[in-house]
Amino acid sequence: MRNTVTDLLGIEFPIFAFSHCRDVVAAVSKAGGLGVLGAVAHTPEQLEIDLAWIEAEIGDRPYGVDLIVPAKYAGDESGGYSIEDIRQLIPAEHQEFVEDILRRYEVPELPADEGDEGAGGRGLERAGGGAAPFSATAAGPQLEIALAHRTAFVANALGPPPQFLIDRVKEEGRLVGALAGKAVHAERHVQAGVDIIIAQGYEAGGHTGEIGSMVLIPEVVDAVAPVPVLGAGGIGRGRQMAAAMALGAQGVWCGSVWLTTDEAETHPVVKEKMLHATSADTLRSRSLTGKHARMLKSAWTEEWERADTPDPLGMPLQPILTAVAQQRISRAAFTAGSGAEKLANYFVGQVVGTMNQRKSARQVVFDMIDEFIESAEQLARQLET
Ligand SMILES: Cc1cc2nc3c(=O)[nH]c(=O)nc-3n(C[C@H](O)[C@H](O)[C@H](O)COP(=O)(O)O)c2cc1C
Repeated sequence: MRNTVTDLLGIEFPIFAFSHCRDVVAAVSKAGGLGVLGAVAHTPEQLEIDLAWIEAEIGDRPYGVDLIVPAKYAGDESGGYSIEDIRQLIPAEHQEFVEDILRRYEVPELPADEGDEGAGGRGLERAGGGAAPFSATAAGPQLEIALAHRTAFVANALGPPPQFLIDRVKEEGRLVGALAGKAVHAERHVQAGVDIIIAQGYEAGGHTGEIGSMVLIPEVVDAVAPVPVLGAGGIGRGRQMAAAMALGAQGVWCGSVWLTTDEAETHPVVKEKMLHATSADTLRSRSLTGKHARMLKSAWTEEWERADTPDPLGMPLQPILTAVAQQRISRAAFTAGSGAEKLANYFVGQVVGTMNQRKSARQVVFDMIDEFIESAEQLARQLET
């Protein structure tokens, strides 16, 4: 395939794979797409190791790194909170509610020799060098590590990338991308200097807005032309890729579809739930990060949805409130029929309904391309000649 995006990045297919797993990133770059490593929970040391590993795996093929620096953030006014500041801000009612869930579902404590390491817990604390998770303070060192490597593309989720990020990426001659859930956000990104917009619709796994991809993608394409747009949210197969390209996108950015691949480190119990889930089995919930994120329905989301339970806190309070609980759930979910198994869930989009076969990430790319070609040919045949 050949268009602005494939030319800009020197890739064979404009298929971008967002993943926290380095194996998925490498597999997709090797298959001709562009793997993008989600670095939010990486410590600087781990990021260094993973980028070196990816580069050794993929040779001279390109890859990207994704950071999360939100536009709005509790503590911004005072220059950002530390993890300890944030722990002080969590109301007792919320702590008791989380404890109550763990008690009622009989989720065991962590063994004494196992510290809390979960995403949002000490893992993120280390990633940010003591700064709060999802903050510019945490993302700065990660950015410098990405730029010290051959990272071709740096993307940012959750609002306009901070100017320092855009400037540094450009100074190093790399490309910068940003996610947008509304056309007006995409316009702002472009004014700030973003090179590639990722128009991510409501169907998407993870943090997501309220506008469906079918409506959002053409709006964004028109708003930012000639800046290239990747379609995201609800894209996991070739027909969906063809639809996004028909809407004016120059490529696709997929996150959910890799979660059930052989390479993904998704919790085995959650992977199994995903393989059997339907497209109706996700919801947008603030229960993990404090911002609306699409995830698999489970006893965990039911508990937070109930009218008599507290509303989730904002970011970054909610991820810190729930980090150790999530770690306990993950650890205990392996026991079939356990409360932890019922609670276990993870971010995933509505395409989970068609993620029902085990495949390699490479196979996902090739199947997507085959079906894309079939769809494009089928559409072409419907034109009168
Ligand atoms: C498990 C998971 C974690 C995600 N984490 C991030 C993240 O850290 N940064 C980011 O930019 N996007 C994140 N996203 C969103 C993806 O980048 C992507 O936009 C989205 O998955 C596209 O929609 P899809 O899930 O329908 O493929 C995440 C998505 C999933 C499924």
